[in-house]
Amino acid sequence: MADDGIHGREDAPFLRGDGGTKGADDVALDPWGSSTVDDYRKLFEEFGIESFDDVLPRVPTPHYLMRRGVIFGHRDYRPVAEAMVKGEPFAALSGFMPTGDPHIGHKLVFDELIWHQQQGGDAYGLIADLEAHAARGLSWDEIDEHTESYLLSLVALGFDPEEGTLYRQSTNREVQDLAFELGAKANFSELGAIYDFDGKTEVSYMQSVVTQMADILYPQLDEPKPTVIPVGPDQDPHVRLARDLAGRMRYFGVTEAYASFELEEEERELVTEVYEALSDDSDGSDTDIRCTDAAEWLRAERPPADALENTIEKLESGGKEPLRPRVRFLDRNATKEAFEALIDAIDGEKRVYEGHIDSFDLDREAAEELARQVELNTGGYGFLSPSSIYHRFMTGLTGGKMSSSIPASHISLLDDPEDGYDKVKSATTGGRETAEKQRELGGKADECPVYELYAYLLAGDDDEFATEVYEECVSGERLCGGCKEQAAELMAEFLDEHQQKREEAEAILDDLDVELESDRR
Ligand code: TRP
Ligand code: SF4
Repeated sequence: MADDGIHGREDAPFLRGDGGTKGADDVALDPWGSSTVDDYRKLFEEFGIESFDDVLPRVPTPHYLMRRGVIFGHRDYRPVAEAMVKGEPFAALSGFMPTGDPHIGHKLVFDELIWHQQQGGDAYGLIADLEAHAARGLSWDEIDEHTESYLLSLVALGFDPEEGTLYRQSTNREVQDLAFELGAKANFSELGAIYDFDGKTEVSYMQSVVTQMADILYPQLDEPKPTVIPVGPDQDPHVRLARDLAGRMRYFGVTEAYASFELEEEERELVTEVYEALSDDSDGSDTDIRCTDAAEWLRAERPPADALENTIEKLESGGKEPLRPRVRFLDRNATKEAFEALIDAIDGEKRVYEGHIDSFDLDREAAEELARQVELNTGGYGFLSPSSIYHRFMTGLTGGKMSSSIPASHISLLDDPEDGYDKVKSATTGGRETAEKQRELGGKADECPVYELYAYLLAGDDDEFATEVYEECVSGERLCGGCKEQAAELMAEFLDEHQQKREEAEAILDDLDVELESDRR
C-alpha cells in the first residue's frame, strides 16, 4: 500500500533551470500511496509549500542539491538557516523505512542530513522499523537486515554517529511515550481526512502516524530548537500534522489585542489602522480612544466589507472601553501551576482574566519567549514548529518512475559496480534519434535521466562540471554514447568507493549502541 520512497517525475531539473515546473497537473501528496509529483509548482499553490529559492540567499554555504534546485521547496526553513548563521542550536532529522536496500534516492536524504550535521546541527537518522512492521507487514528478520544496511550507507557517506544520533523506533522508549501523548491531540476524523483513513484502516497506520510525529519532535525533547525534516514531498502531510501538533501541545498562545475582546487577523489589522489614525490626532495619551470612537471612524472612513462589519460590531459592543494595544497570553493546555507562574513572570502592567492574561508592557516577541520559558519551567515541552525541506524525486533510468520493484530503473547502493555501470549504459536519454540531429538540435538534458544522475550525484559539489555537461548536451557538442560512458564509469567508481566505505563503517556500527538485532524476532 505505501510507496517505496522513490518516485517518478515528469520533468527533469537542471542547474537553476525552470525548476521543472511544466507538466501535467496531477498532484497527489500521499505518504501511503505511490505518489508521483508531476507539477511541483502546484505544491506551492495548493499546499503552501514555499519555494526553496526564497530562502536560498539566507543559507550560508548551500549544499549543491540546494544550489541546483533538487531541493525545491520548504516549510519554514528560515529559523534553521538563521540558527546556522548565528551558530545557535538546530537539528535535522529524517527517517527510513527498512523495506529494501538503500538506493540513490535515499542517498539524497543521507546527504542532506550529513550536510546539516557539518553545518553544526544535531543530526538524527532513524529507522522506521515499527512503521515497516506495522504498516507494511515486514518480518523482523527482513527489517534487521535492512536496518544495518541503511545505517552502514549513512555512516559510509559521512554521517558522524559520535556527534549525531541513530535510533530505531522500536527501541526508543522516549519516542514511543511522546507518540502516546501526541495521540491525545489528534482524533480519528482528523487523521481520516488527512490520510484518507476509513473504518477499515488498520489501527497500526494510526500508530505509525503518531510515532512519526514523535520522531519529528524528538530532537526538541531536551530543549526547543529549530529542526528541519528533509524528505520527499509525499511526506508533507506528516510535516503539516507535526507542525499542528507541536502548536497544540503548547501551554500558551500569544496574540495581540486592543481591548478585552478577541480579534481575528483581518479585524486586528483594521483596528491597528484606526488606532494609529486616531492616536495621531490625540494628545499622546492612549486612553482617550474609546471603542465606539473607533467604530465610528471605521464606518466613516472605510468601504464596507465583511471583516469591517464584524470589527465594527465588536467595537460597538466594547462601548466606552478605551483601546489600548496589548499582548495576550491565552491558556491552551497550561496547568494551574503554569498559569500562576506566568502571571508572576509578567513584568509591568498586566490584567488577569479567566483563561487569559493581558500584558501592556511586553512586545510580541518578548511575550512569545516568556511563554515558552514558563512552559519549560513548569513541565511543558515548548516545542517550536518543525521545518521541512523537499527534494525532487528522481526519474527512473528506464524512463517513468524510479521504483524499487523495477531493478533496472534505479541503482541500489549495494549494486555491483559493474551492474551499476551497465544500468547507466542502458539508461534512457534525452538524446535525438541520430547523431546528426543531436549535433544540429542538441540533446534534451532537461528530460534526460542520465543528466539527472550527473546533477544529483555524479558531479558532486562541482557545479562547473555539471554545467559543462548540461551546456555541451544542449549545444549538441555532447553525444549520448560518450556521455553515458562517462556517467557509467563515474557510477561504478562511486559504488566501488561507497562499498569500501561501508565495510569500514561496520566496525563503527558495532561500537554504537544501536541494536542491530531486534528483541522482537
Ligand atoms: N514515513 C517515512 C517513510 O515512509 C519514514 C519516517 C518515519 C520518517 N519517521 C520519520 C521520515 C520522521 C521523516 C521523519 O519513508
Ligand atoms: Fe543525456 Fe548526455 Fe545524451 Fe545529453 S548527451 S541527452 S545529458 S545522455
